[in-house]
This record gives sequence, C-alpha cells and structure tokens, in this order.
Amino acid sequence: MNAPTHPATRCASGPAAAHTSDVSPLPPAAWPTHATLRAVAHRLVDAICDAQDAVSYAPPLRTIPDRERATLQTRGIPDTGRDPLEAATELLRIVETGAARANHPRAFAFIPGPHSAVSWLGDLVTSGLNPHAGSWLQSSGAAAIELEVLRWLAARFGLPATTAGVFTSGGSLANLTALQVARDRRLAQRDRAQAVAYCSDQCHSSVAKALGVLGFAPEQLRRLPVDAAFRLDPAALARAVDADRAAGRHPWVVVANAGSTNTGSIDPLDAIADIASTRGLWLHADGAYGAAAALVPARRAAFAGLARVDSLTFDPHKWAFQTYGCACVLVRDGADLTRTFHTRPEYLRDTDTTDHAPNFWDRGIELTRPARALRFWLTLQTLGADGLARAIAHGIALGEAAAAALARTPYVECLSGPQLGIVCFRFVPPGVDDAAALDALQSRVARAVTDDGTAFVLTTVLRGQVCLRLCAISPQAGAGDVETTIARLARYAGVSPVSPVSMRST
Ligand SMILES: Cc1ncc(COP(=O)(O)O)c(C=O)c1O
Repeated sequence: MNAPTHPATRCASGPAAAHTSDVSPLPPAAWPTHATLRAVAHRLVDAICDAQDAVSYAPPLRTIPDRERATLQTRGIPDTGRDPLEAATELLRIVETGAARANHPRAFAFIPGPHSAVSWLGDLVTSGLNPHAGSWLQSSGAAAIELEVLRWLAARFGLPATTAGVFTSGGSLANLTALQVARDRRLAQRDRAQAVAYCSDQCHSSVAKALGVLGFAPEQLRRLPVDAAFRLDPAALARAVDADRAAGRHPWVVVANAGSTNTGSIDPLDAIADIASTRGLWLHADGAYGAAAALVPARRAAFAGLARVDSLTFDPHKWAFQTYGCACVLVRDGADLTRTFHTRPEYLRDTDTTDHAPNFWDRGIELTRPARALRFWLTLQTLGADGLARAIAHGIALGEAAAAALARTPYVECLSGPQLGIVCFRFVPPGVDDAAALDALQSRVARAVTDDGTAFVLTTVLRGQVCLRLCAISPQAGAGDVETTIARLARYAGVSPVSPVSMRST
C-alpha cells in the first residue's frame, strides 16, 4: 500500500479507514440477482396462483402436523445456502400446510381476509421495488399514491379537507396512533394520572392494549354496558363522564364502534359526537372492520355522525379485500398527526417537506415503513369505487342469507344480526337446558364443522352466553356456502335443519 500524499484524513467516528480497492461486488453465486431469480419467481407466482385457485377445494383450516413442526424447529439454518427454487417450493408448502385460508368462501371465523388477487399484485410491486415509504425524498411516487388514497377515503367518509392520515400495519396500530394524538391534544401531562377513557364493552381489545402502551392503567378505561343492539348507550356515556368530572377525574376520549368485531354493531355516532363536543372529549371511531360498509352508498345512513369524528381507524385488509398489513388512521385536523409524531434528528435534516410532500414518518410511529397503500390503490383502480362497493355489499347480502337460513332452522336463538355480514346464534335443542351444557354444545358444533373441513367457524360470548358467530364477507361465497354451513352445524347440534315449527323465539 502506498503512503497517502495528502494530509492525514481524520474520521471522528467509525473504524480507521480501510484499504478498499480489492472489494468488488459479490458474484451471483454468492448474492442472487433478479436476473438469476426471474425463472424462480415465475414458477413461484404460478404455484401461488394454483394454490389460490384451489383454495375452496381444501378445508379452510389446516394446522401443521406436530412431527413437521418439530423437524422445522430443530433443523436449524444451513451454513451453506441452497437452491432458491427448492427452498422457495418448500417454504410455500410449509406455509400452506399450516394456514387458515382466510380467503376460503367458507372461512367465517374472526374477520376473514378474502384478499383480492389484485391486492397481491400490488404487494408484488411494494416488496419487489421496496420503496422506503417513510420520507418524500425516498418515495415521492408511493407517497403521492398514499396521499391520494387517504384523501379519497376521507372524502368518502365525509371528513373535511383538513383530514390527514397514514397507513399502518393494522387496526391495532391505527387505534394506537389515534389515541396517542388524542392524548396529546386533550390531556395535559399533569392530568394523565386522573385521565379516563370511555368505550362500550363491545370495543375491540386493541383499544385497551393501546391505552396500556400509552401508559394508562386498566382502571382508566370505562367499558360501558351496551343496549339491546350491542351499541353504546349515549345517556350512560354522558352520566359516566359527568360523574368522573365531578369526582375530579379527567375524561378525555371516547372510542365508538363503527362496526364492532363481535356483532358488527354501529354505535350511535351522532349522539356520541354531541356528548364529546359538549364535554370536550376526543371522539375516535374504530371502523377497522365496519367502516367499509360506509363506502357503500346505500348503507351510508347507518353511519350518521361518522363525519363528525376526530379520528377514524379503517382497515382495508379486513373488508376491502387487501392482503394483511394494510390499515389506516384518519385524523380530522391532519396537523395534529405531525404535532404528535414529527421529529427532526440531525441525521434526517436533509429531508425537507411541504404540505403536499410530507414525510409519512412524521405522521406515525414508524420511521422505515413499506408502501402499504399501493395494493389498495391498484385494487381501486381495477375494481373502481363502484366495484369495491358492490363487493362489500355482497357481504351484507351473505349475512342476510345466513339470517334467512337460521330462520328456517329449528331450535335456534339469534343473538344478533344480520349486521354488516355478521350473525351470532345458538342452538337450543330440547332437553338441553343447563347453561354450561348449552355453552359446551356451541363450542362442540363449531369444532366439528371446522374439523370435518366444511367451514371455519368459531364461537364468541354475548351477554354471558357462548354462541356461534359467522362473519360472511367473501365475494367468492354464495348463499349456498352459508346455508350448507348452517345445515351442517344444525346436524351436529342434533336439530333438523328443515322444519321451522318448533323454533324458539328470542
Ligand atoms: C373493530 C376492530 N378494531 C381493531 C382491530 C384490530 O385490527 P388488527 O388485527 O388489524 O390489528 C380489529 C381486528 O379484528 C377489529 O375488528
């Protein structure tokens, strides 16, 4: 190595300058390039499409066999890499072997994920090009798309032009983001120990989790009882807020359901907005699931008051047919987002922004983030707003078909619905009167219909009673899918699915 002829370079950080002239790019054998992977990628895409085409021919739920799980978990990572096609084929098989087909037409458990093939194509662009969607500087194209999708959603939900938002990994993170903004806007630091948040007992668990992350104790969330339709009672809310205020506590936020997970119930948003505005509370609506129905013009009326919320969670990866990891939060005064999340460390100082060219890392918790809006944009471009609304409305019709099938089935108690594609019900066959036995029966028939591969059905609890819950939103399902499932459930429950004569009324 020749001695440098210029004055000695001094680096204030990092290792001493290395001699680098013998460092060249790794060869394809050591670092795969896209050229070498093209053929593998084509094979993989074909295999994924084949698997998706066949989705309805296999049971909706498959769990990895114990022996294979044990092998996988002890096999370790090879020191020397192996053929990518062979490894990718194995990967596909393993994931398929142990996965619920959330897009199976008879996947009725949880909130199913009937993702559209177009969403997956958008995903390919997201992960293939891998733009860093944290800053405008790094991904102005993807950011322009994210802004446009958020603007379109805000307008559809009736929110004003001041609204801004950000895509998140899911509804849990969207709720957390909104609640952090709400806390910063509505609570002085000194009031936080006495702060109280409100929601109904049907509110999603992610809200309590988010409040925990933000440092609140479980007692600082009041979970208020619901009315007969599983909706938050505005009068009970007003009473609770006034009582807490009189006791010296600090009410600051109410979280309303715009489609609850259990039953699809929509809280009376207008009345809750009145209470929130007269009492200085932030109103957050959790529409992670249900707000999709507000995109269907004929269903908008059920969401009266949605346009008055301070913030809203909406998950396209639920009922807008996106692959997982696609949710968003909208905040009425968009500047509130940046007031909470803007940071400017010295290493980000060259990433200037304007209102039209924001850094999304200033709107949420993440710095590095994938471009989650691309797949939804592609879906919207492909289906159009009307096509999306039609696909969502199909779920509502499926819920109605399920309710009609239940009405034809004897010894059924309907506990809720149809509401936003969800029905909850119990079998109450003659001779089974004991509460514990009835609860056990519902669990047993859900498991039986899932184990025999007919459908994926789980139970929930409403008013202390275990019940079956169907959430039917797949555009690829028809009335026959819910009817077959209900008939099979009825058979396992020991009731005949035909004669309505002895149906016990609710
Ligand atoms: C109403 C509601 N809110 C929030 C969530 C949490 O969303 P995620 O699972 O995307 O974090 C769910 C999930 O089902 C939900 O139904």
